[in-house]
Amino acid sequence: MENDLFSHAASQPSNSEDPAKRIAALSAELEHHNELYYQDAEPEISDAEYDALMNELKKLEATHPELARPDSPTQRVGGAPLEGFTQVRHLVPMLSIEDIHELKDEELEELRLTKPDATRADNLIAWFDRFHRALGHSDVALSVEPKIDGVAVSLVYRNGLLDYAVTRGDGSTGDDITQNIKTIKSIPLRLPAGAPALFEVRGEVFMPNAAFAQLNQQRDEAGEPAFVNPRNATAGTLKQLDPKLVAARPLDCIFHSYGRVDNAPYSSVSEFQQTLSDYGLKSTHWFKMPTTMDELLACISQLDEDRHGFPYATDGAVIKVNDLALHAQLGATSKHPKWACAYKFLPEQKETRINAITIQVGRTGVLTPVAELDPVFVSGSTVSRATLHNQDEIDRKDIRIHDTVIIEKAGEIIPAVVKVVTEKRPADTPRFNLYDHVNGQCPSCHGPIEQEEGFVAWRCLNFACPAQAVTRIKHFASRKALDIAGLGTAVAEKLVDTEIITTTLDLFDLQADTLADLLLDPAQLEGGESKPRRLGEKRAATIVASLDDARSAPLSKWIYAMGIPHIGESAAREIARLHKNLTEVSTSPILRDLANLPDFEELSVSKRKKENHPRLARYQIESELGPVAAQHIVAFFDSEAGQNVLERWRSLGIDPQSDNYDPEKSAFKNTDSAITGKTFVITGTLSQPRPEFQQLIEANGGKVSSSISAKTDYLLAGEKAGSKRSKAESLGVAILDEQAFTAMLP
Ligand code: IVH
Repeated sequence: MENDLFSHAASQPSNSEDPAKRIAALSAELEHHNELYYQDAEPEISDAEYDALMNELKKLEATHPELARPDSPTQRVGGAPLEGFTQVRHLVPMLSIEDIHELKDEELEELRLTKPDATRADNLIAWFDRFHRALGHSDVALSVEPKIDGVAVSLVYRNGLLDYAVTRGDGSTGDDITQNIKTIKSIPLRLPAGAPALFEVRGEVFMPNAAFAQLNQQRDEAGEPAFVNPRNATAGTLKQLDPKLVAARPLDCIFHSYGRVDNAPYSSVSEFQQTLSDYGLKSTHWFKMPTTMDELLACISQLDEDRHGFPYATDGAVIKVNDLALHAQLGATSKHPKWACAYKFLPEQKETRINAITIQVGRTGVLTPVAELDPVFVSGSTVSRATLHNQDEIDRKDIRIHDTVIIEKAGEIIPAVVKVVTEKRPADTPRFNLYDHVNGQCPSCHGPIEQEEGFVAWRCLNFACPAQAVTRIKHFASRKALDIAGLGTAVAEKLVDTEIITTTLDLFDLQADTLADLLLDPAQLEGGESKPRRLGEKRAATIVASLDDARSAPLSKWIYAMGIPHIGESAAREIARLHKNLTEVSTSPILRDLANLPDFEELSVSKRKKENHPRLARYQIESELGPVAAQHIVAFFDSEAGQNVLERWRSLGIDPQSDNYDPEKSAFKNTDSAITGKTFVITGTLSQPRPEFQQLIEANGGKVSSSISAKTDYLLAGEKAGSKRSKAESLGVAILDEQAFTAMLP
């Protein structure tokens, strides 16, 4: 996309510029780009350029907090987490709408016994007649719009500024979710001049279908339970107390109604739609105005067809009387207004058969079971596969190969198996067990698979598994890892697809001209190109130069870059604090020691001392590096793949060094201990195997010997210590029980 950034005044910072002016200019420019991106879907600048402007504004606001405005674009990135949500009373109660259901097959059959010409929309026809009777005339314009299957919110703008946002709650009081709502970029923080002094506007927050599908895929891969539909994902997101998490999930909002408004500039539903768009508040793109029953029915079946192509989930049509004067005349019950109804479509369900269950290896090694179905047409498209998510989900629904199943689209989008028609199950169909199905092996590389404790997913542990190569390379090259400029998704995919490389370390064998000749897939390129594009000499040279720099990147970056499960950035830095280089890491007694401890996950250093994890406290290890992380890194270096990686590092001459090694804290050089220089003999039954104690003594600079002599300093004696105890007594060697020994640890 053409970059016109530099034509904007705000893009030319000058040191002499007044900070208030600069803040105003940056804010205006960021809002302009927000609008282009989120409302018009026509961005003019790159993400990086946008981030640079945002960062400049954040810095300015931090140095001049008095100049930070409530509608600043920085408000959208999420502030500090909340302790809980405050309750706020709605200015006008949030009523619901009377639901009118499309009739099911059985219901229609029964009705036709007494009313032969009845249709599925019989209840709607009755509603239509009822309000015409109440009004006394039949020439009433209606509006029809999609019923968005989201989470209702009410926003209050005062004097043009977004004051607060509240959930529906019980209809009269809801949760204050202002911080979370501000992260939704399509919602304006300020209304244009001339908007009413008080404007309470209501709408549905939703997660767009594509984002929902992606989020669930990520959750499957992370071994987390998938959300059932986009509404649950939205509700789950809005309930988060940490707005940063909300900002990371792409929510959107469409407005459809109002609460209290001073001097409303509209007198009908259709005029209200116009007001919404004048104010930059997103409104429905599908809006029709029928008058007769036949027109209404035609609109509704049109919507039922069109909605499958909408970017959000819909479960019906909202029908309103257009004229607001008639709203007042018709009034409301305590629950819902009499001038509107929601016609709910039946979720389309189809019966089909599972012919096979295939196992997909995801890019992080997670094994996802997928039902291969007899193709059926449901909710607007032909479905032949449905994810079964994981073994737990299969067990819960007891899904087996060759079962006849009912399927629908979750939130009208994602094919899902609702239930099994057990009557149709062939005799002797065995239960489905993912592990047995793949013979305990990854279907892609035949390496071992494992189900981590507390996670539902099975995962391939093979570092060299080809199914995971692209993910690993992208992670390896990411900014927080080795920051290989120019090596993005398109390049990584092409390198792996064409088998030019199969593992991350193969990158270091790449020649600049091989890279320059890569033809990138247009689908992967930004800017909607239609032809493959050659990578070119310039980008190839950038990649090669970044790879060369990466050779001397610090140990922590290299450990993080390997993409070992549970080794995030903090754990990697912690490992680099305790070890000088990769050789030390690969043979580390500390990591082995840690790996054998019970999981302490949440324990702080002080708590760990209290909970009697003296070894952990001694290393003063931050909680990011717990037993689980240690087990994974130890398992990695013990595996064949890990050994191969070590070997490759050596042959490539890559030997990363720690840049945060801290011998003071590190157990390797801990000379403060009462154990240092002392000789121990261990006997009797202790709480853990003896090698555990031996490692501890050695890690603290002590020695362990197998027999007692006059040179022995201490006998560490457990229960049932026999002859060694008497010998120690006779030689005058100090005898320690486990508690006394633990007390000697630093
Ligand atoms: S108008 C008196 N229009 O559905 C309420 N509501 O089940 C007037 N909803 O409370 C609301 N799409 O939260 C309206 N196009 C739409 C809607 C819509 C979804 C929600 C809304 C309402 C609920 C009723």
